[in-house]
Amino acid sequence: MIDPFDRKISYLRVSVTDRCDFRCVYCMAEDMNFLPKAELLTLEELDRVCSAFIRLGVRKLRLTGGEPLVRRNIMSLFRGLGRHLKSGELDELTLTTNGSQLARYADELAECGVRRVNVSVDTLEPGKFAEITRRGRLETVLDGLAAAKRAGLQVKINTVALRGVNEDELEDMVGWAGTEGHDIVIIEVMPMGDIGGETRVDQYLPLSLVRSRLQRRWTLDETDYHTGGPARYVTVRETGRKLGFITPLTHNFCESCNRVRLTCTGTLYMCLGQEDAADLRTPMRQSEGDEALEAAIHEAIARKPKGHDFIIDRRHQRPAVGRHMSVTGG
Ligand code: 5AD
Ligand code: SF4
Repeated sequence: MIDPFDRKISYLRVSVTDRCDFRCVYCMAEDMNFLPKAELLTLEELDRVCSAFIRLGVRKLRLTGGEPLVRRNIMSLFRGLGRHLKSGELDELTLTTNGSQLARYADELAECGVRRVNVSVDTLEPGKFAEITRRGRLETVLDGLAAAKRAGLQVKINTVALRGVNEDELEDMVGWAGTEGHDIVIIEVMPMGDIGGETRVDQYLPLSLVRSRLQRRWTLDETDYHTGGPARYVTVRETGRKLGFITPLTHNFCESCNRVRLTCTGTLYMCLGQEDAADLRTPMRQSEGDEALEAAIHEAIARKPKGHDFIIDRRHQRPAVGRHMSVTGG
């Protein structure tokens, strides 16, 4: 699959549920209306659509949410998709998780062929963790990380930089990740979805500032390491681990974009920062064969836009895109 800007689409991210057991302040409002269960693709349909993408050239698949591990029976999907790893058609099956269920599932994920997980941890202070996630427990997530390590999963930590909340901790978190043997990616707040009272202007902390502060404590060596994604990586000389920065607002990463995103209702978003989308559920349900589905996928890729235009400022108080990150996955 090649898009109009000559980018090869080889990476699919799938949000398997919009639900989550946390309510992170930058991600969700306190009271969220989730989709009725009847709207969701079944696990069989998720397998079918993922398999169609793999047939068409997707080599890397990431399951996200919401929180993917809170969807009932989700391991059957991982198990099923694992067959494409065995056949060599798929290079990588991964997930992004908040870690709350990782202690329970780490071994099984490894059995299914998962080698790496991204785990969101914004703070290492239990009280602050409870505040940011509104209902998470840090200890549970740390247990999950320990289980992941025991199961042989490589861990990448995702940390959203929040002004006045965890900005004073980021230097320590880089050290902690290094000690634990994890890479870490620091993410700038993105204007996605209504989050209730607070605004993202209050939360926004530019990573240029974060980076210069980190450099007082750590030696950051430039690398040419790339995942085809938005993160720019350096190596922390003292720990030997990678540190990534995702700065969607201050840096344009669209030229090398290799991915598309599918929601749990079967809507395909060709860009995280644009509203244009394609419905894959209807063509999939139209017939038992996959011709209509594959045609719809091709048609969607042919419409992939050149880039996003996120902005956060005081004149643009409304989110750049209406949907939450939990709809399309990070
Ligand atoms: N801006 C930046 N990061 C976000 N995440 C969720 N919502 C937002 C947002 N609005 C993060 C999660 C997770 C990653 C996939 O995306 O914390 O680490
Ligand atoms: Fe859940 Fe992740 Fe959103 Fe937090 S950021 S509420 S863990 S989906």
